[in-house]
Parts: sequence; C-alpha cells; structure tokens
Amino acid sequence: MAEEKTFYLETFGCQMNAHDTEKVIGTLFAQGYRQVEDEKDAGLILYNTCSIRDKAEQKVFHRLNDYKRLRKEGKRFAVLGCVAQQEGEKIFERAPHVSLVSGSASYRKLPEMLARLEAGEERITGLDDRQTEETFETEFTARQNPYRAYITIIEGCDKFCSYCVVPYTRGKERSRTSSSVLDEARRIAESGYTEIQLLGQNVNSYRDPEGKLSFADLLAAVGQVPGIRRVRFTTSHLRDFTRDIVEAIDSIPTLCDHVHLPVQSGSNRILHAMAREYTAEWYLERIAWIKAARRKISLSTDIIVGFPGETADDFIQTMNLLATVEYDCVFAFKYSARPNTPALVMIDSVAEAEKSQRLQVLLDRQREIQRVNYSNHIGEVLEVMVEGVNPARGQIAGRSTQNKTVNFAWGHAIAPATGSYLGVKITGAFPNSLVGVAV
Ligand code: 5AD
Ligand code: SF4
Repeated sequence: MAEEKTFYLETFGCQMNAHDTEKVIGTLFAQGYRQVEDEKDAGLILYNTCSIRDKAEQKVFHRLNDYKRLRKEGKRFAVLGCVAQQEGEKIFERAPHVSLVSGSASYRKLPEMLARLEAGEERITGLDDRQTEETFETEFTARQNPYRAYITIIEGCDKFCSYCVVPYTRGKERSRTSSSVLDEARRIAESGYTEIQLLGQNVNSYRDPEGKLSFADLLAAVGQVPGIRRVRFTTSHLRDFTRDIVEAIDSIPTLCDHVHLPVQSGSNRILHAMAREYTAEWYLERIAWIKAARRKISLSTDIIVGFPGETADDFIQTMNLLATVEYDCVFAFKYSARPNTPALVMIDSVAEAEKSQRLQVLLDRQREIQRVNYSNHIGEVLEVMVEGVNPARGQIAGRSTQNKTVNFAWGHAIAPATGSYLGVKITGAFPNSLVGVAV
C-alpha cells in the first residue's frame, strides 16, 4: 500500500447505509486515511453495499468487476454492508481481488480489521450470525449531509417478513440507550445542525435498554433538545405503531408533519403470506389516527407488487388502499426473490411483464393522487429549509416539514445559507414538488 493512506468509498442502499458510511469514514479518518474522489487515486476502495433487491446486489458485482484491474497496481478492495453479510466468504470466490468483507454488525471491529489489511492479510472477514448485541457507536462520525444529522437508535430486525433480507444482513434487533441517543442529539445541536433524523430498520420498535423512554418519549425528548427545529424518523413498522407517536407529533412542534408507514400490500391474503402480521383494516385504523391529528401529517409508504401468488384481485385491493389513504409519496417495487428468505420457496408466479405493468398502473394512479395533494398547497406559506441551489433552474431547493420538495426563486444576489429556514408562498405544484416565492 502507498505510504499515504487514501480511500475511496461508494455507498448503495438506504439511509441506514448512508449513515453507516458516515461512521465508517470517521473511523477511517481516525486511522489516518484521507478520502479521495476517484477509485484510481485510492489505496483502499470500499463499497458499502445493499442487497434489498436483486438489482441493488448486481450493481455491486458490476462495480467490483469494472475496477478489478486496479488490484495489480496494489490497490485493495473492501466490501461492506448487506451484500457482504449476505454472501460472506463467497465474495472472495466471485471477486478474488477483494481482501475485506464485513457486515454492518461487525463495524466495531473495523480499526482492527484495517490494521490486518495494512499488514497485508488477504482474506479478512467481519461476519455476524445474528449474534451480536453491540451497536456501532463511535465518536468519529464524519457527517456528509450539511443540513441533516442522522442518529441510528436501533439496529437490525427481528420481524422476518417473508420477502426480506434485512434480518439476515443486519443482525438481530438491538437498541441504543436513550441517554446515549440524547447525548448525541445534544452534540449535534451544539455543532450547528437543526434537523435530526432518527434511523432504524424499524425505528419505532425501539426499546430503551435503560428502560427509561418509549419510542414516542424519545422522539419528544430529541424534539426538545435546544437548537433542534426538525426531527424526522424512518422507517416505522405498523406492528409497533402506537397512538402516543401521533400524540407526540401533535404536541411537540419540532417533530415533522410526516410519517412513513410501509404497507406493502392492500390484500390481507398477501399481507399474511408476507408475514406482516397485520391486516389492511388494522393498517387503515392507524392511518385514521394519523389523519385525525390536529396537525396535517403527510403520509408515505412502500409497496411491493407481484409478490408470489398476487392475483389481479389482490392488486386491485392495493390500488383501493392507495385511493383511500391518498399518500404524498409512494416507493413501489417489483417483488424480487432474495436468498435465505422464506418467500424464496414460494413460486414467483407473477410474470415479469405483469409485475412491470402493475407497477406502472400503480405509479400512474399515484401520480394523479399526488397532483391533487400537492396542488392543495397553492396559496399557502410554508416554512422551508434550504437544501441547496438547483443549478438547472437557478432556483433554491428546500423541503417543507411534510418532506415535500419546494423550489423557489430568490431575488437577491447572495443565496440563503444551506440549512436556513424561510417562508415560501406556494404558487404552483407538480406531482412531486412545489414551486413558490420567498416571502
Ligand atoms: N422485493 C421487492 N421489494 C422489497 N422490499 C424489501 N424486500 C423486497 C423484495 N424482496 C421493499 C419493501 C421495503 C423497502 C425498503 O423495500 O417495500 O419496505
Ligand atoms: Fe439495502 Fe436493506 Fe441493507 Fe438498507 S438494510 S442497505 S435497504 S439491504
């Protein structure tokens, strides 16, 4: 390895992964590494990977293949994250130029694994069989987002939905203590951040190991940290979605007016096959709590189309649920069979073309729902946090408390600072964004 220690790191997947990357980068800095922007300039190339769907996984192997010739120049490769945990040592067979394979539940051992890598070891693994009780807490987080600070409050997953790799890739469910979360929130606020996003595969399954705070209490406490103006949380699971979460949002002004509550399907038969352990009626009851809040809380969801055995009628029930809830945002995916999961033995009965068609029908309908939802904001003045300048339009881009993108014109020479808050009068709407003028 070159004398100066340099690394290149690329992240795939969810916000949990994005935040893990911030902690991994902080760890690398603490070990004396410098970050570079190009694989070719790096001594160590790391990919923090995702395996939620087949396509995400393929991307990693393509990337590894694209750059394998760099191994001859002495560069080293590390695969981190969900593909690492899922494939384990098989990665060394498929991509022999890789030297380090580590899942997220082993990141605490990164300094030690890096030392072994630097000493020339070729086959280093950090893999976990749903054993570890540890969470990855480090003082060395290198935050990459200038206006939003992430805090992981719970890692892993014990829900075992039949389609999902996460319980196998991220280990068993383990929560941080509320004291440690609140300490981090205070440090974040002191460093100048005003927005915090609490993270977990099932953030609301949080169980304080100290037994002090429920998830709703923790949410409220983070919202009351001096200097914090916005608190978001993702992703929630319906089974742990309790009414006090809505009550907390209603009573603590800093908690954002947005809940992401994945439904996956509107058909009880499919929900049962997915092992979601709720019915559409149960789901809609929680939606009714949220809609009955004093504040107008925006709703978003995840949906899978073409799950094994999904009939045209099951799909219609998903479409009906969509029309009932009127979400502001939907992430919809075609079912993708995943290794180790219980659904793998089910017959992937819906043809690829049919999955694509259902996805398109769903997205088209959802677009119309959002067109109406977004246009309802015309004439309102929304508080917008500035996230950046949109160079294509010469506009400022920001976000409302409901997590809606707002683009607005700015008449002054000096643009407002990233992370600052402005009132914006909404003058127009698209299905995915609002436009307006600063007031
Ligand atoms: N196939 C398709 N989509 C999936 N998701 C999770 N596993 C799969 C899979 N095997 C979707 C779910 C989840 C989101 C993060 O990804 O909708 O909520
Ligand atoms: Fe992808 Fe799931 Fe892993 Fe996140 S937890 S990186 S979505 S597989």
